[in-house]
Amino acid sequence: MQKIHLKAPDHWINDPNGFIYYKGYYHMFYQYFPYDTRWGTMHWGHAVSRDLVQWEHKGIALFPSKYDDRNGCFSGSAIEHEGKLYLYYTGTRYLEENPEDIHVCLNDRFAAAQMMMVSEDGLHFDNWKDKITVIPPLEDESIGCRTHTRDPKVWRGKDVWYMILGTRREKTKGGVLFYRSRDLRNWEYVNFAGKDEEFSWMWECPDYFVCDGRDVLIVSPIDLMKDGKTDRNQAICFLVDFEEETCRMQIPEEYQFLDYGMDLYAPQSALDAEGRRVLTAWARMPESPSGDWIGMYCIPRVAEVKENHIYFHVHPNIRAAFTRRIERPAEADVSGYRLEANMQEGDVICIGGYEIVRIGNRIRTDRSRVFRNHQDYRMQFETPELMDGCHVEVYVEPNLIEVFVNDGEYVITNVVYDLGTELQTECEDAVKIYTVE
Ligand code: FRU
Repeated sequence: MQKIHLKAPDHWINDPNGFIYYKGYYHMFYQYFPYDTRWGTMHWGHAVSRDLVQWEHKGIALFPSKYDDRNGCFSGSAIEHEGKLYLYYTGTRYLEENPEDIHVCLNDRFAAAQMMMVSEDGLHFDNWKDKITVIPPLEDESIGCRTHTRDPKVWRGKDVWYMILGTRREKTKGGVLFYRSRDLRNWEYVNFAGKDEEFSWMWECPDYFVCDGRDVLIVSPIDLMKDGKTDRNQAICFLVDFEEETCRMQIPEEYQFLDYGMDLYAPQSALDAEGRRVLTAWARMPESPSGDWIGMYCIPRVAEVKENHIYFHVHPNIRAAFTRRIERPAEADVSGYRLEANMQEGDVICIGGYEIVRIGNRIRTDRSRVFRNHQDYRMQFETPELMDGCHVEVYVEPNLIEVFVNDGEYVITNVVYDLGTELQTECEDAVKIYTVE
């Protein structure tokens, strides 16, 4: 039984949605196209887990059924209220459909509405009865774009509920919108926050939370990287100042990448059973490994803010699942293995063709030998300067390698293909390997 990573059950998945710990289970919904290994009319697939380690697929929860979501149920989030599960998402309706492929629109012409679905138990979803539109497609362009406003993340503030949405303003300026509500149904627009047009024209999948007393904003701005690579949309994190009453958010110049492997996108966070802020993200894959599925999620990470830096630690349940010490990767379970080492300047770890090197006070990875020649993607990756020491904890499975440096000071996650089973190390320190039971 494959554990650890949540993967597409078949066909295509992208963003994690509606991530929540509810009635003793973690619920993960996901952007799902059930007909092909490519993006198309979005559904919400559903999976549950007791421990974030092992996931059970539950089939489709949301599918297009209303005027406003007839062409897709885009990304969104979940909250619990009076025992019920509330899902918020973006419904799309094409204004110009491709006659040869009704699963995509032409010329970016679609309308986006914010919608809500209520479920009594998180297991049954009535797509005919329990869905409503809460914010119709925007009419007022001075608030935000009618097309590019999406991905509601809802949370409970001191007295009322808040929603943050990704948007585009004045045709070129990305940012976020804040709404508020007393009853979860009627939403009032409060404010906008963003940056200038050179930064990005649209911010996807915003997430806001308080962590260790600091306000954190995570967004996925389109075209953030200006070098023309396929992976130019990147997820980034800001330490912001947010004032609840006015929804004024001050966004600084500095940001961190969510992950320095540049493959993760559209992260979403939730509180775990112990109240930790945990998040996962979509690992974008240029092709399906075997032809029948594409898309997976990274290991859930616990966010911690220390001295103006956001750490992303391996979730303790994941680490605890790797208990069986092995000598060679070939002895590992299908869920992969975990490897640990202290790296000195110049040390190299080569995992079946994937290279991890310490150069100065940085970790560099190179996947060029295990990436099937996808030249339009990045091949080499590097952390910023590390603060102190260099310990790596690496999780390896056939299509994803996650390198946690100094317990999450930085993480490099890379999609890989056709990984070998040999492990070569040029490390002064011994390398230890563990797999799951
Ligand atoms: C991000 C995204 C979201 C959107 C969803 C559609 O990957 O573009 O903004 O809601 O995917 O599948």
